[in-house]
Amino acid sequence: MMGNTNKLILKFHGHGCVQLTRGDVSLIVDPFLNDNPQSKTKASDIKCQYVLVTHGHFDHCADAAQIVDNNQALLVGTPEVAQYVAAQCHNPMVETLGFGAKKTYDFGFIRVTPAWHGSGIAGALPCGFIVGFYDKVVYFPGDTGLFGDMKLLGELESIDYAVLPIGNYYTMGPDDAVLAAEFLKAKTVIPIHYNTWPLIEQDPNEFKRKMAARNNIGVIILEPGAEVELT
Ligand code: NI
Ligand code: MN
Repeated sequence: MMGNTNKLILKFHGHGCVQLTRGDVSLIVDPFLNDNPQSKTKASDIKCQYVLVTHGHFDHCADAAQIVDNNQALLVGTPEVAQYVAAQCHNPMVETLGFGAKKTYDFGFIRVTPAWHGSGIAGALPCGFIVGFYDKVVYFPGDTGLFGDMKLLGELESIDYAVLPIGNYYTMGPDDAVLAAEFLKAKTVIPIHYNTWPLIEQDPNEFKRKMAARNNIGVIILEPGAEVELT
C-alpha cells in the first residue's frame, strides 16, 4: 500500500478544466483537453468515475462524452446540459441536478449552484458545483460573473478552495474575483479561465497581489498541467 494514496490532489488541465483525485477515485470538472491550447493531457488519457459539466460551451464540455464513455463515468449537470452531453454518449449514467440540489456520493457531496452566464444550449441553465471531496470542500463556480449570493454559499458550506475564473470578458475578472473570495469566505483561491486566448489575458501574480493587499486569503497559481495537494 502506497503511503500517498490518501492524498487529495487537484490537477489544473488549463483553462477551466480541473480534476480532483484521491487514490483511484477521481472526478473531472469541465473536460476540455484535446483542443485546449493549455492542456498537456489528451481526453483518452483521463481516468475518472465522475464527469461534472457546468454548461454547454465547447470550452467546458468538448471532451465530456468521450471521457464518460471511456470510463463509464457518471455524468453530472443541470438537466438540459447533462442531456445535451448524454446525447453524444453511448448509454451513459446521468445525474441531472437542479440549483440547490445537494447529493452525497462515496467521496462526499456535490451541491449545484447558480451561475450568471450563458449555457450554449437553448433552455439550459449554466451552473457551478460545490464539491465535498473527502475532508475538503472545493467550489467550482463555472463561468460566472460575481453575484451577491456567493455570500450565501459561504454560509452554507465551509469552502476550503475556490477555483475562480479571473479572465474577464466571458466571466468575472481579477478585481471581482477578489470580492468573490471574500463573499465565499474561501480559505484559498486557485485562479483559472485566463491566458487561454488573447481576450482573457491576465497576470495571476497581479491577482495574487491584489488579494494580499485586501485580505489573508491564499492564492495558489497553477501552471497548466500542474497539480497541488489539498491540505
Ligand atoms: Ni462559457
Ligand atoms: Mn468558458
